Amino acid sequence: MRVNISHIGAKGDGIADGPLFVPFSVDGDDLEVKVNGKQGRIKHIHKASPHRVAPLCKHFGRCGGCALQHVSEDHYKNWKQQKVITELGHRGFDDISLLPLEVSPLASRRRARLTAIGGRAVGFAERGSHNIIDITECPVMAPEIVRFIGPLRVFLKGQLAARQKMAIQINLADNGLDIILESSGEPDLDLRMDIAAFAEGQDVARICWRDTKLKKPSPEILCERRKPHVSFAEHQVFLPPGSFLQATKAGEDVLMDFVAKAVEGADKIVDIFAGCGTFTVGLIGRHAVHAVEGDQHMTMALQQSSHQMGKIRNLTTEVRDLFLRPLLPHELNKFDAVIIDPPRAGARDQIQEIALSEVANLVMVSCNPATFARDARTLVDAGFIMGDILPVDQFLYSSHLEIVSTFRR
Ligand SMILES: C[S@@+](CC[C@H](N)C(=O)[O-])C[C@H]1O[C@@H](n2cnc3c(N)ncnc32)[C@H](O)[C@@H]1O
Repeated sequence: MRVNISHIGAKGDGIADGPLFVPFSVDGDDLEVKVNGKQGRIKHIHKASPHRVAPLCKHFGRCGGCALQHVSEDHYKNWKQQKVITELGHRGFDDISLLPLEVSPLASRRRARLTAIGGRAVGFAERGSHNIIDITECPVMAPEIVRFIGPLRVFLKGQLAARQKMAIQINLADNGLDIILESSGEPDLDLRMDIAAFAEGQDVARICWRDTKLKKPSPEILCERRKPHVSFAEHQVFLPPGSFLQATKAGEDVLMDFVAKAVEGADKIVDIFAGCGTFTVGLIGRHAVHAVEGDQHMTMALQQSSHQMGKIRNLTTEVRDLFLRPLLPHELNKFDAVIIDPPRAGARDQIQEIALSEVANLVMVSCNPATFARDARTLVDAGFIMGDILPVDQFLYSSHLEIVSTFRR
């Protein structure tokens, strides 16, 4: 079937009349596609869009890690900006002030979740399939992660049965890779015996195992050669396995700058969904910060790191499930400023409590423009004025986007 692509949809697919979703296409493309339901697969490009450029990576077009390498830089940036305008438009925000997109550099992504299948392939799933694309290059991930994939494939070949699947979660800490191998069941004896030599050979900081059969699987450390750490401001935080980190250091720095300016002048701050303290640690020299987080290991890491920060006395932490027990107005009212950085689902209940409180200075960070827009609507209906929105692209060539804005009243 011959189709013209009219625009790029929310997930990064080109869209033709129907609607027909055509991955790896761009508005202005005149294409021959093979149609399967609502999906089209490009068979031939009759006339390429002026926005089409050569992709950077040989895996592009099959690997599900990137959706938009084939789009020119300006057009790509416009599309990401437009995503914010569209999502906020759906919630009745017609006149937002959007700052220029801050884009993280190539080769800077420090978190990855890969899949291995039988030691044959280590990489991301193929677009629209469970097939794993064996990755030998990636322009987006940090080189330390890309270099590790080859040796990991060789190691797993000797460990996994032909069809056995394993997820590999990787964080790049300041002192090396921090890895969790995830599979169903216990690691077998061979793997337990061989893992230390493998970690030594690749100079990996730590390798853990997570048994996905368990209800609440917490990682078991198989080998820890050194405790992985990162620096927030100039302070070291030692990461528990599977810690949350902003996807790039460049993105983290931009968000931190924005947050620091937003809370300037506040004495007491509460950092809600604080993780290991990305924002908390950057602020505790100048403000008293109360960090609230659901994961007790991350909270403990933050607390322990603060003991090593010498004179810093103005940090308190609290482990709390904020979906089940959001902070209530009388608790929120003790603070001069609130930082909130929820997971992708947003923070509907917590935002409602903030709306009912006397909080007048809030900064909201979000990795999901749709839930950000929903929560922003609640805040603005409660009298807050939304400030400039800064979009931060830590997820290069994917449809994901981080945004941050202030809310004042
Ligand atoms: C987007 S991360 C932000 C972390 C931190 N602000 C940072 O920038 O590193 C969201 C955090 O929310 C935490 N979280 C997820 N669900 C939660 C819940 N129900 N209650 C409390 N914290 C939760 C996660 O553990 C994670 O640390």
